[in-house]
Amino acid sequence: MKTEQPDHLFSPTQIGQLELKNRLVRSATAERLATEPIGRATPALAALYTELARGGVGLIITGHAYVTPQGKAHPEMLSAHCVQMIDGLRTLADAVHAEGGRVAIQINHGGRQCAEESVPQTVGPSPVPTPDGRTPREMTSDEIVAAVDAFALAARCAKLAGMDAVQIHAAHGYLISQFLSPHTNRRTDAWGGDFEGRIRFLAAVCEAIRGR
Ligand SMILES: Cc1cc2nc3c(=O)[nH]c(=O)nc-3n(C[C@H](O)[C@H](O)[C@H](O)COP(=O)(O)O)c2cc1C
Repeated sequence: MKTEQPDHLFSPTQIGQLELKNRLVRSATAERLATEPIGRATPALAALYTELARGGVGLIITGHAYVTPQGKAHPEMLSAHCVQMIDGLRTLADAVHAEGGRVAIQINHGGRQCAEESVPQTVGPSPVPTPDGRTPREMTSDEIVAAVDAFALAARCAKLAGMDAVQIHAAHGYLISQFLSPHTNRRTDAWGGDFEGRIRFLAAVCEAIRGR
């Protein structure tokens, strides 16, 4: 029988160039502690991250942060959508670093899955209604390019704020996964169709972020 090595969990590791003091990761969890309507970080959010880092978490992944108001998934969601957010994000990065932790911001666009009180008219790859009966407006190709750039700008703002990494939210039915899924992506242009077409949006987001 293989011997367990519990100490391994507490030993340093690296993800790319990011050095972590251990392998404990706090998975992204929407805290709903940002201001309304603009999504600024609050002292309460910084205090939560201080507590997590002080408790020994090596890498904290923030709750998802929107890259454009059109992609704000729900009230009190954190934002990284413009340079005005940088000062607030810096308070979060500083709080974690002061305790010897590292922090990645998760960036997201809610697409068709944004709450009605946050985005009255949602957008998506195709006008496929959500299970609760809301139909998104099909994005134009200019809007898709703008959404890609919004991810890149958000990542840039995060870097300027001192965040150690970004995590791209490509799951849970939000915009990127709406592009990936043949159910929600019925497009016949370059952004849809076969797997290569449906993955194009995610690939463009990754490339744009690296470019910035
Ligand atoms: C209240 C709540 C908020 C969450 N918010 C996010 C989020 O913003 N981004 C994300 O990728 N996952 C989010 N998740 C999913 C968690 O990161 C995690 O993957 C999920 O809870 C499964 O892990 P568990 O079995 O330890 O709970 C959330 C989960 C909960 C319960």
